[in-house]
Amino acid sequence: MTQNVVREIVSNNAVLYLPDGQTIELPVITGTENEKAIDIGKLRSQTGHITMDPGYGNTGSCQSTITFLDGEKGILRYRGIPIEQLAGNARFTEVAYLIIYGKLPNQQELDAFRDSLNQHALLHEDMKHFFSSFSGQAHPMAILSAMVASLSGYYSDESAVDTNGGLDVNAARLMSKIRTLAAFSYKKSIGQPFVYPRDSLSYCANFLRMMFAVPSRDYEPDPVVVEALNLLLILHADHEQNCSTATVRTVASSHASLYASISAGILALWGPLHGGANQKVIEMLEHIRADGGNIRKFIDLAKDKSSGFRIMGFGHRVYKNFDPRATVIKNACDKVLNKLGIEDPVLDLAKQMEEIALSDDYFVERKLYPNVDFYSGIIYRAIGIPVDMFTVMFALGRLPGWIGQWKELMDDPTHRITRPRQVYQGQTVVDYVAIENRD
Ligand code: CMC
Repeated sequence: MTQNVVREIVSNNAVLYLPDGQTIELPVITGTENEKAIDIGKLRSQTGHITMDPGYGNTGSCQSTITFLDGEKGILRYRGIPIEQLAGNARFTEVAYLIIYGKLPNQQELDAFRDSLNQHALLHEDMKHFFSSFSGQAHPMAILSAMVASLSGYYSDESAVDTNGGLDVNAARLMSKIRTLAAFSYKKSIGQPFVYPRDSLSYCANFLRMMFAVPSRDYEPDPVVVEALNLLLILHADHEQNCSTATVRTVASSHASLYASISAGILALWGPLHGGANQKVIEMLEHIRADGGNIRKFIDLAKDKSSGFRIMGFGHRVYKNFDPRATVIKNACDKVLNKLGIEDPVLDLAKQMEEIALSDDYFVERKLYPNVDFYSGIIYRAIGIPVDMFTVMFALGRLPGWIGQWKELMDDPTHRITRPRQVYQGQTVVDYVAIENRD
């Protein structure tokens, strides 16, 4: 008999046999989509053992009602609604409301939410000076995170841990101001005057105007561009317990404010293995193009572990068949570029790379497919977003998810501070040695 494995599932309990002869019955939690989890909450107190799961690939950190994801079947739903339906029909503000408040808003609720976003779109005028303090080399994600953290200095009273009235106002503030912050940081980087938000415009059109309008000229956002942005933001709006969301929840679990938690989430998103991959994909494709466009060479490089090179925008911890977001974005890519009359040679390179990789044993065996970041940058570039702002766009899209997850954690009376354990492998007890006696 194999020891130290979970041996049996008895009705709603799992029985674990440990190598020292102990046996423990652990409750099994079943989700609404029949996902099963063994609750090990009492494992250490009853047996002295902990579990080990670096990277948390097998660890559930919470029970959530926000997003359902089936990586084998390529399913993604927000509050039960398939991502494909939302992408084809909804506005980003509706989806944000859905994720934060748990239901699609009726017209009255949506109007009130939009009014609230408009009411909070401006920044405190003092904050404009902050932009001058960053070095010219500062990455927009560093600026965004710092600016979001700074908001707590202006709105500290309500921002503590209130998930009722306080949440409404802070959620609206963040949703609205993050867009203004992102656009202002771009304007600062190119030396143009800030363009203030305009209430009559939709969420996406308003952002595009703040990004691209100049005082000397009229600006009318292109509806094709507005639609493309709306689609991308919806597809990024939540993705259950990914690295940045887990970060937001971890920070929130210490009862840090919404602003502090989201500022931390932005920094987690910045990494190239997470949201930062969208910038890296375009840089990689441009590099391949400049190198002569030999895709096979780079596929082989990615297969050679000693190279340290990975195909950016490929692979996913959870999706092992296809990433449904990537499917929608790939289809949108052709349409958006056609409508805008743009030919991007990098799109052809990306398609070739996907085709070659998907027929290569290395990628097939490891179930590595294009993820959300593989094609999104091609659309962002086509609609005029500079490459180093790509991950900022991801953050704008992911914000409702972070807010909804923050609220869910705070509303859960059973939540505890996040505090993983470890197995210590260092030196056992040794005596302190005075400096003159050290080797
Ligand atoms: N190119 C080449 N090989 C890869 C890649 C890749 N992009 N991704 C994974 N592998 C290999 C990896 O070397 C390993 O091989 P082996 O089994 O021989 O050691 C195997 O596939 C499993 O990889 P892993 O690193 O254990 O998988 P993970 O679940 O820990 O990491 C990932 C997932 C997304 C970090 C990883 O696939 C990756 O680095 N992808 C490139 C970065 C990227 O596109 N990130 C965006 C993710 S989607 C947006 C979001 O963050 O939500």
